[in-house]
Amino acid sequence: MSENLTLEEIREEARKKMMGICGVYKICDGDSMRICQGQSYGRSLNFGGIGSGAGFNNNVIALRKINLKMQLIGEHFEPDTSYDFFGNKLSMPIMGASVAGVNSFGGEKVITEQEFCCSVVFGCKKAGTVGWRGDTYTYSIENSYGINAIAEADGWGVKIVKPRDQETIVKFFKKAEEVGSIAVGIDIDGCGSFAMASHNKPVYRKNIGEIKELVSATKLPVIIKGVMCLEDALLAHEAGASAIVVSNHGGRVLDHTPGTAEVLPNIAAKLKGKTKIVIDGGVRTGYDVLKMLALGAESVLLGRDIVRAAVGAGIEGVKIHMDYMRKTLAKAMKMTNCQTLKDISSSILQ
Ligand SMILES: Cc1cc2nc3c(=O)[nH]c(=O)nc-3n(C[C@H](O)[C@H](O)[C@H](O)COP(=O)(O)O)c2cc1C
Repeated sequence: MSENLTLEEIREEARKKMMGICGVYKICDGDSMRICQGQSYGRSLNFGGIGSGAGFNNNVIALRKINLKMQLIGEHFEPDTSYDFFGNKLSMPIMGASVAGVNSFGGEKVITEQEFCCSVVFGCKKAGTVGWRGDTYTYSIENSYGINAIAEADGWGVKIVKPRDQETIVKFFKKAEEVGSIAVGIDIDGCGSFAMASHNKPVYRKNIGEIKELVSATKLPVIIKGVMCLEDALLAHEAGASAIVVSNHGGRVLDHTPGTAEVLPNIAAKLKGKTKIVIDGGVRTGYDVLKMLALGAESVLLGRDIVRAAVGAGIEGVKIHMDYMRKTLAKAMKMTNCQTLKDISSSILQ
């Protein structure tokens, strides 16, 4: 695959392969007129948001309501977007989200699960950042596509496990540890996963004792993903989580959740500096990333855009997309007078 592909060419290829699943629209917002939302109410979730799609849509609307303050008079500089993630220097505070099960709605003509996982892990690595890997009913300890890809990349990845029974989660954590993963975690909001439950892979709410047990079962930092309120954020921190991800799973687990950008400030006010705060949901450009950082997040994850990049052009597609994200973040930082990530605060919002 050519390294000279444009983002538009990659998206055009994804548009062809994902026909009827995702329109690869200019704006990916879960609006009720989009192809992905045509699947709502009783039909398969596919690529959209659950139910009315309100949670998915709210993520994008919340970000759109926020504006950036342009501040330009001063010395010239080229922004430094580098970011420390558990002792690893990344080129940007932007990583590939833990998405899984992409083959289940398009079949192998779209992309195989193994190809998808390798595209995210290696594409992110080539762009100087990290690909996180998810979990779904087709995954097992014997065949975990995500951990296979992380192993191939010498441990350069993060493995997020669904909130299965404790014993199975620990087995996944151990396997991730064996291949040298950077961190592990659970998407606690995955307890709303219909796909897992309907394939005889039960998922559960987790109490603080169970989270503590998981934290002490591994040497790796443990991440709690799917936090949408201060109460959960504080409990995850108390249980020893090294990071939380403010996320509503891209609006896929509970209809009518607010946008993640709306709940972030309240959580950041209590926990910024005490734990890593990562966020996702509706982040499409570096301008969105800057808004999330200004609201108190340390870094962000990209979900659906990374799938489209992987389907469009595999490893190269993901790398090109991540490079685009870094460039737009750098431009946004330059135009708002932020030389490094440390200079980003709510004062750049208007
Ligand atoms: C098709 C699909 C599958 C997903 N699978 C997982 C998963 O296995 N584990 C997980 O933690 N999150 C999963 N997510 C949620 C993403 O990690 C992320 O939170 C979300 O996509 C971010 O929103 P965005 O798509 O608007 O960027 C999935 C999302 C999509 C669209």
